[in-house]
Amino acid sequence: MACELHRGYTKFIFSIFIAKETLVKNQLDENGCDCESICNLSRRNALKLTTGIILGIAAGISTNLHAEEEKEARPAVGDCLADADAEGWPVAININDLVIGGKPIVAYPFNPKTGVLKDGSRLNKVLLLRVATESISEEIIKNSADGVLAYSGVCTHKGCDITSYNTKDNAIVCFCHFSKFQPTSGGEVLSGPAPRNLPMLPIKLDNQYLVVAGEFLSKPGATN
Ligand code: FES
Repeated sequence: MACELHRGYTKFIFSIFIAKETLVKNQLDENGCDCESICNLSRRNALKLTTGIILGIAAGISTNLHAEEEKEARPAVGDCLADADAEGWPVAININDLVIGGKPIVAYPFNPKTGVLKDGSRLNKVLLLRVATESISEEIIKNSADGVLAYSGVCTHKGCDITSYNTKDNAIVCFCHFSKFQPTSGGEVLSGPAPRNLPMLPIKLDNQYLVVAGEFLSKPGATN
């Protein structure tokens, strides 16, 4: 009986391992890139974590507490960015996922070493959009990555989610009370009731992947 239980348990663990390994392989294929990037660590670490999960289960160790804390931590230098709507293991956003003047992506940062997506606080929500590099003001170009700009996805007026970029007006728009922010000049308020600029998140490129390069330049969230 004990042996049967053990065999069943081993099969269960093995199936987790295979499932995770397949998932990671698929992610590599989808992106068609095995280039070196800290964001790729998230994939490599998926395998390591799989082993960790197995050992963790076997030893009866839970790492949930630490992960819960990390989910609420603010974006940190070296974090990669993943689509906020994606499910499963976070997949790093590549610069080619964004088109100049195209639809923005709402993302959350994640730690590529642990794979923990920092979606425990909506203040970590980031709006990514891409514009022509020459349209970006001199002062803020150093915080952008090849035309990609990252801003808080939470309006500085009453804290509504911001998901929209109007190419024609070059304006990030909050539809709650129609505040507009100019992304190419540091999130400056163009119109509407928002009392302060939309906080910018400095980013850079690491082998085509978008990586956080600094903290938000001002406090994200509604203004009291
Ligand atoms: S919450 Fe965005 S304009 Fe009011």
